[in-house]
Amino acid sequence: MHNKIELYAQLINEDLYKYLDTYLEEYKVIFDSMRYSVENGGKRVRPLLTLLFCDACCGDVKKALPFADAVEYIHTYSLIHDDLPCMDNDDFRRGKPSNHKVYGEAFALLAGDGLLTAAFERITDLQKAGLYSADVAVKAIYTLSHLAGSRGMIGGQVIDLLNENNSNADFDNLKLMDSLKTGALIEAACVMGCIAAEADEDKINAATEFAQKIGLAFQIKDDILDVTSTLEKLGKMAGSDEQNGKSTYVTLLGVQECQKLVDKLTDEAMKALDAFQNNEALKEYAKYLADREN
Ligand code: IPE
Ligand code: IPE
Ligand code: MG
Ligand code: MG
Ligand code: MG
Repeated sequence: MHNKIELYAQLINEDLYKYLDTYLEEYKVIFDSMRYSVENGGKRVRPLLTLLFCDACCGDVKKALPFADAVEYIHTYSLIHDDLPCMDNDDFRRGKPSNHKVYGEAFALLAGDGLLTAAFERITDLQKAGLYSADVAVKAIYTLSHLAGSRGMIGGQVIDLLNENNSNADFDNLKLMDSLKTGALIEAACVMGCIAAEADEDKINAATEFAQKIGLAFQIKDDILDVTSTLEKLGKMAGSDEQNGKSTYVTLLGVQECQKLVDKLTDEAMKALDAFQNNEALKEYAKYLADREN
């Protein structure tokens, strides 16, 4: 792995926890619950993309760190809620029992809410960030709230739930579902890295194009692994989609065709990276995502 990737993963892991450690004894449990899900096991794909895009735009990655934290908080909230019994009802996440199995459904729900709001606190705490202007913060907030919201990630989760036990789902519907539930937050991650670097419109457009391709590929790969992998390797239950009667690209195309599609989308995504001079680490990371085993 490119040495920048390891370095940035370390930066992210150290920074993520710093903002989750202030509490009064009276409500301490919510911080315990939030930290439980943020800690360990996550691949940190989205915050890494934020820092890698900032770097690819020749920006200072420290400026992108609050944005990277924010995206990972929102991603983690989405996983806590995704695992709840009223959604995918999954008992394992990131190699340990899901949040609601440890803290109960009510505190899992609130930990998700807490992380969602923490994301925007982290971006707007300009005194702690001290690096970028309010204008840059507002651009980042718009991007994140739009893409994580009901026209983005939440909209995708809604389509996913409506599709349960629906064998009529077609490619257009699945593409929309995957692009929204997973692609949208990945797009926010990439674009926010460019915003931190105060990059121009051309770079933002190229990052968007990359993210839309890689985001769709990421969810198709997740659906492949759900069929081909194990709890030990994934840190979450394999076979969850079948158990929940989910419609995915894999149910329509099968595993082999899906991996071909992942590789094709990854190649197309790579082309968009030509807009960046400093793109070696990003290229390596995109390849890793297509070939990942968890
Ligand atoms: C899992 O995301 C949920 C999807 C959107 C496919 P990741 O595979 O990035 O999960 P972590 O963060 O590594 O746990
Ligand atoms: C998750 O899709 C999308 C989210 C927004 C969380 P999945 O339901 O396939 O994710 P996993 O497999 O549980 O991580
Ligand atoms: Mg789900
Ligand atoms: Mg799930
Ligand atoms: Mg899945």
